Amino acid sequence: MINIAKGTQDLLPEVTSDWQYVENKLREIAQNYNYKEIRTPIFEHTELFTRGVGGSTDIVQKEMYTFTDKGDRSITLRPEGTAPVVRSYIENKMHGYANQPIKLFYEGPMFRYERKQKGRYRQFVQFGVEAIGAEDPAIDAEIIAMVMDIYQSFGLKKLKLYINSIGDIDSRSEYNKALVEHFKPSIEEFCSDCQQRIDTNPMRILDCKKDREHRLVKSAPRIYDYLNDDSKQYFEQVKLYLDQLGIDYEVDTNLVRGLDYYTHTAFEVMSDAEGFGAITTLCGGGRYNGLLEMLDGPNETGIGFALSIERLLLALEAEGIEIEHDDALDLFIATLDEDSKQYAVQLLHRLRKAGVKADTDYKSRKLKGQMKQADRERAKYTIVLGENEIKNQQVKLKDMNDGGEHVIELSSLTDELKERLS
Ligand code: HAM
Repeated sequence: MINIAKGTQDLLPEVTSDWQYVENKLREIAQNYNYKEIRTPIFEHTELFTRGVGGSTDIVQKEMYTFTDKGDRSITLRPEGTAPVVRSYIENKMHGYANQPIKLFYEGPMFRYERKQKGRYRQFVQFGVEAIGAEDPAIDAEIIAMVMDIYQSFGLKKLKLYINSIGDIDSRSEYNKALVEHFKPSIEEFCSDCQQRIDTNPMRILDCKKDREHRLVKSAPRIYDYLNDDSKQYFEQVKLYLDQLGIDYEVDTNLVRGLDYYTHTAFEVMSDAEGFGAITTLCGGGRYNGLLEMLDGPNETGIGFALSIERLLLALEAEGIEIEHDDALDLFIATLDEDSKQYAVQLLHRLRKAGVKADTDYKSRKLKGQMKQADRERAKYTIVLGENEIKNQQVKLKDMNDGGEHVIELSSLTDELKERLS
């Protein structure tokens, strides 16, 4: 037997209805905020991610599914959605559109070669949004408000929103210098990744999972003290908007995010529900003012976030929230002999074309077995077709909820059902 690849999962019919419900709701909310869908390819030129996400990040260094195609090009299965969306914005010259900022959402599989753990997969589905072409604290607040709106609309309560500003590129370079000075003398006390980070991206030492409790991490200089006036003012305005919207947040000065493209606003939503597991991050995002130029695009800026549907579903489970969806059958037609089976097949075809969710038996079950099958499919109504029913063109429509039986003409079955179901 060939098994499924590690870190991936089959979504069986028992769970795909939950997924559909979640996906529809996410789309609906994104549309309320006037974001429109974009679909980009699942694979891209590797350089998009080495340049866009950053050569010093874990994603690029350790986690990418990269291969050489038959044309000798280096190709990578997308590990995230921002760089591809920005590439598309640049390539399709969306900066020339009048309706800036361009507000986009996307949903689809991402691929990272990570250690498998609860809530961490090698193929996972991200839902993300990007607003590109405006630098306005109000849009940062809009994006954060949308994230919270999404989680709350599913009924989640045990949420924590952390925000930070990692400043503009000038503030960051001053801050990085201060961090190098702070960590360098004792860097051999840190993990091997951090020993590299000190040269490639010192800020990442601050959110290293292994060294989180190190005394020097706790006593490290704070980014806020290195923000220049513009960066400080931008952050203050984002916070003001969030306050006005009544959104609770905590400033976490160690929140630096794991991708290189961020500037100014960075944020994460965590779940503190018991039983959610060790990986508590539900979603992450932030502003990326240098990314477009880094990818040879125009001098435009963007902000966005991404969440994985897998972790959203885990959070629902951890808070005991059940998804309600109606995947029950409207009508099950049981048949008593070959002639009625033939009649049933034609009737089904008509009912389905009229929008009734209907089915019948294909396993030559006895009547009792057919009724059990109707129960398994949670049919709302059933009819039994036999010689008499076809001759008289009348059936007993049974309401499976209250057991009530109603004699009706076969010719009015569709209308009767539609009325009862509406
Ligand atoms: P990220 O923090 O790398 O950011 O990922 C965003 C979210 O994707 C995480 O918070 C988590 O919900 C989910 N996620 C990441 N890796 C996995 C995994 N292995 N298994 C399950 N879920 C996972 C980004 O990807 C940025 N592109 C977000 C962004 C959009 N920033 C600006 N715009």
